[in-house]
Amino acid sequence: MGREIKSVAVLGAGTMGTGIAGLSAEKDCKVLMLDVSREAAEQALDRVVNGRPPAIDTPGKEANIEVGSLEEDLHKIADCDWICEAVIEDLATKQALFERIEAARADGSIVSTNTSGIKLSDITANAPDRLRRDICVTHFFNPVKIMKLCELVPGTDTSPDVVDSLAGFLGDVLGKGVVRAKDTVNFIGNRIGCFWMLMGLHGAGTALSRGLTQEAVDAQLSKPMGIPPTGLYGLIDLIGLDIMDLVGKNLADNLPEGDIGLRYTRFPDPEQGMLDRGQLGRKTGGGFYRMLKLDDGSRKKEVFDLITGDWRDENPAEIDDAHAGPAAMFQNDPSGELAWTIMGGTLCYAADLVGEISDDIVAVDNAMKWGFAWNKGPFELIDDVGAGRFIAKLRDEGTGLPKMLQILDDSGAESFYRSGGTEYLGLDGNYHPTGSV
Ligand SMILES: NC(=O)c1ccc[n+]([C@@H]2O[C@H](COP(=O)([O-])OP(=O)(O)OC[C@H]3O[C@@H](n4cnc5c(N)ncnc54)[C@H](O)[C@@H]3O)[C@@H](O)[C@H]2O)c1
Repeated sequence: MGREIKSVAVLGAGTMGTGIAGLSAEKDCKVLMLDVSREAAEQALDRVVNGRPPAIDTPGKEANIEVGSLEEDLHKIADCDWICEAVIEDLATKQALFERIEAARADGSIVSTNTSGIKLSDITANAPDRLRRDICVTHFFNPVKIMKLCELVPGTDTSPDVVDSLAGFLGDVLGKGVVRAKDTVNFIGNRIGCFWMLMGLHGAGTALSRGLTQEAVDAQLSKPMGIPPTGLYGLIDLIGLDIMDLVGKNLADNLPEGDIGLRYTRFPDPEQGMLDRGQLGRKTGGGFYRMLKLDDGSRKKEVFDLITGDWRDENPAEIDDAHAGPAAMFQNDPSGELAWTIMGGTLCYAADLVGEISDDIVAVDNAMKWGFAWNKGPFELIDDVGAGRFIAKLRDEGTGLPKMLQILDDSGAESFYRSGGTEYLGLDGNYHPTGSV
């Protein structure tokens, strides 16, 4: 039987905690939001209401949120149906907090962690059975009220009614697109999205040395591929090189042996130099790009040229018809090769991971659409350019087929989806109704 969620405790009131608390309050849940001190929680509540953007849209809904400190008010979680941990990404901190949560919460409550990459099995390594049965990962994306994706990751001992109750609440009440993922490093969206970025820096570096500009890289790796206009360098400017460095280190420690992502966990030299200098992205006033305000009040965008190591004026790149869609990856020129290396390489990476990170291709496609704002997921993109053509190019290059492409080839199927997307190709080589996922 499902467990009803009407009251929520959010522990940790930073970027994500305020987002989760705000959305829950907006949807009329009673929310307890705790942080390291009452003052910190009060400041967080102010950000829920007055932040840019605010986490709550309807004036007055913040009255649903009670604030307090983790030190003095943790006992109040005894009245909460769902307890969501959103403190800093540090295993020891999370484990210590879960020990205290376990002592304070009521039987029947549901617990989750908003970790973005730590495996649940590590967090619950020494946890009692009750917690192991009642806990999932609920991985929201930032900003919580805007990004549709919430990855839901059960542990090996999580009871099915906990997973189903959370899935129902996240989808029906909070309005999220719930994707069920497996308990592996970085789950689905960040496993593939961070591969795209880290491998992308290396692949784009090669393209730059062959004469492409950074603007041309971002122009090719954005709208033509159906991904946001920030492109590669612009997206990393938004996230920050320091965060990407932490992501790379976490992947270096936790990717399974043999995973090709291990080749790209360290930055190329120019990006490492930027990190060392503190040239991290938008938060430090410039990374790969910067915006200058001139004396006459106008603005000028500059590019940090990775080849010369100097700032220069931005020179926007044009995209011709041959490169205007995902099929650019079949063009025999530097831009086409860039698209094939980075986009094609990422699609292959995703195709190899089905089974390991998700049960099916639909979860992977939804994670990339809802979490990274891709217009099409990896398998929809392969269908778009033609799975047969994609396989032929890999064969021409003498590259073995990644798992899902091998399954497609062996089963004689021509696409990952058929019947207008209502059926998808499963790991068993048969089509299944997409609605059943
Ligand atoms: N920011 C993102 O884009 C994003 C996206 C998805 C998931 N996450 C994950 O969500 C969690 C929170 O991330 P965030 O971006 O909101 O971080 P944040 O730094 O904005 O907030 C962390 C909060 O934890 C509190 N805190 C710090 N030390 C603590 C301690 N020792 N004990 C208890 N609380 C402590 C801080 O006061 C702060 O309010 C992390 O696990 C992170 O990986 C972040």
